[in-house]
Amino acid sequence: ARKIILDCDPGHDDAVAMLLAHGNPDIDLVAVTTVVGNQTLEKVTRNALSVAAIAGITGVPFAAGCARPLVRDIETAADIHGDTGLDGPELAEATTELDDRHAVDLIIDTVMAHEPGEITIVPTAGLTNIALAVRKEPRIAERVREVVLMGGGFHEGNWSAVAEFNIVIDPEAAHIVFNEKWPVTMVGLDLTHQALATPEVEKKIAAVGTKPAAFVLELLEFFREAYRENQGFEHPPVHDPCAVAYVIDPSVMTVRKAPVDIELRGALTLGMTVTDLRSPAPADCHTQVAVDLDHERFWDLVVDALVRIGDP
Ligand code: BDR
Ligand code: CA
Repeated sequence: ARKIILDCDPGHDDAVAMLLAHGNPDIDLVAVTTVVGNQTLEKVTRNALSVAAIAGITGVPFAAGCARPLVRDIETAADIHGDTGLDGPELAEATTELDDRHAVDLIIDTVMAHEPGEITIVPTAGLTNIALAVRKEPRIAERVREVVLMGGGFHEGNWSAVAEFNIVIDPEAAHIVFNEKWPVTMVGLDLTHQALATPEVEKKIAAVGTKPAAFVLELLEFFREAYRENQGFEHPPVHDPCAVAYVIDPSVMTVRKAPVDIELRGALTLGMTVTDLRSPAPADCHTQVAVDLDHERFWDLVVDALVRIGDP
């Protein structure tokens, strides 16, 4: 199984990413770290522990990370995720305690304690923790197998015409992460806007018939309304588990090699993931972008994870 560190800001879709990572047998979730994003650090950390309680995730260290971006002021996504960051379902009390370490140190310790090429980092939030980790311990850049992140988009934006939330809330951090030499797969909006939770998907989840499945349905109910009102979607795009799905089975989506860099100065384009799609990609290109999703196989992975989690 592929060992991953999930760095997240739960977040409705982050919660689904956690469940997929926990329930899928080809993933070994070795740490969960949190960072300010959809809501304050305190709220998203509480939410992460609550999801752990609901899904029966035990024996995995959870650590809280950065409470603000590197340079910019905090910007949350309360319109999409509500006041708690995980509005909709009733949130279970945490049953596990946080690791004493800062998330940045847990990330570094975990990567350095494993063999080179063993750990994949899966960020589904702003990149503050990851940027600080690689600055504090540059050796993780060669040691990590790859970074598979949800963020950005080569043609689509959501927080501005051209920028995506996870990138634009901490563009300097994103700049650091995309410019390190580790392999980066950008699972951006071009891909995740295909990961729609349609009524057929909800039916399959409902058929699982467990508490965690009911929890996901409640998350999706809130998410559906939020995306309808704020972004004009008929069915909500469930972004974050797409990055986990790529680690499970890269053939669930198509990818294309292309240089990506982060716009830090544009008056209209701050946080844009500027993607050079001219062919051929340079030989030393270490970034690739996700293009097309196999919608049915993606959701089958999520449903299968819920079946395996059962009622913990
Ligand atoms: C991303 O932003 C967050 O609100 C979601 O959790 C996802 O990671 C989508 O732009
Ligand atoms: Ca997220």
